[in-house]
Amino acid sequence: MKKILVAGATGYLGQFVVKASKAKGYWVRALGRSAEKLASVEVYADELFVGEVTDPDSLNGLCDGIDVVFSSVGITRQKDGLTYKDVDYQANSNLLTIAEASGVSKFMYVHVLNAEKLRHIAMIQAKQAFVDELRRSTLEDMVICPTGFFSDMEELLSMARSGRVYLFGDGSSRINPIHGADLAEFCVGAIDSQEQHFDVGGPEVFTYREIAELAFDVLDRPERISGVPKALVSAAVGAMRWLTPAKVFGPVEFMASVMTMDVIGEAHGQRRLADHFRNCARSIGSKPSEDHPLPV
Ligand SMILES: NC(=O)c1ccc[n+]([C@@H]2O[C@H](COP(=O)([O-])OP(=O)(O)OC[C@H]3O[C@@H](n4cnc5c(N)ncnc54)[C@H](OP(=O)(O)O)[C@@H]3O)[C@@H](O)[C@H]2O)c1
Repeated sequence: MKKILVAGATGYLGQFVVKASKAKGYWVRALGRSAEKLASVEVYADELFVGEVTDPDSLNGLCDGIDVVFSSVGITRQKDGLTYKDVDYQANSNLLTIAEASGVSKFMYVHVLNAEKLRHIAMIQAKQAFVDELRRSTLEDMVICPTGFFSDMEELLSMARSGRVYLFGDGSSRINPIHGADLAEFCVGAIDSQEQHFDVGGPEVFTYREIAELAFDVLDRPERISGVPKALVSAAVGAMRWLTPAKVFGPVEFMASVMTMDVIGEAHGQRRLADHFRNCARSIGSKPSEDHPLPV
């Protein structure tokens, strides 16, 4: 039985990966920054490891006995003042160093689809720098490039709840978003594959306008959708670069770019966005459901 280390185990995708790895019969060690944060995966993991992935001294013994490292460590919503370089690059590089020194055979990393078209973005530069380092390492490497997660599509649901959805561009760009559980099952199913690269999306392709319409439909509210012209988006993003802190600018720059291009990966999974939105709409104010391990 292979032993898997899940780094990013407290995140949206990582929690599903811990669960899916256990369901497949793997032995699982889950890494997180505190025992409190790891409590959400305690029931599925064989071992919990508390450590700061940005501090190599706190990671001694992390990869002992491990065959495969899976990492979904990265900044999605800035919480602690660190940069993409500190986390998406350096923290993953710290993991790679310890994995190599400990005799791990494979490193699986979650990147972003269309990275080659997004090289001007700081987050992608940091992630790509890590991918380049991983490719040069002595380990077997696998890079999984997903489309948007259902967790990100919830932003549109939340805008619909407050009355109006604003789209970057005219909303005609297409995406096949994927549920974290479907992506986790894909990742765990790929553990023994020799492929080094996967572009992964969900089962249904939508335009962003269709996702906004779906959000209003699920909430049973009148549709109010405004498209912000691409030229205005570019000008606003350009100004924000100088006027807003990196933690605000980074995600906006990323979203403005991905929402104005098609982001479509090979179709996997079965979970439907409409069902996810309905679950989110039902579970407001109640405990996180199986469908979404994290509070919305
Ligand atoms: N969301 C999307 O639509 C999407 C699409 C394509 C690719 N991706 C990529 O997929 C990966 C996983 O996404 P996700 O939605 O699961 O992200 P997430 O929920 O934000 O989880 C990220 C993980 O990284 C950890 N992390 C972040 N900053 C850290 C820091 N300074 N020190 C230690 N740990 C830190 C988090 O730990 P804490 O829980 O302690 O904060 C968490 O475990 C990311 O790299 C993301 O860029 C996401």
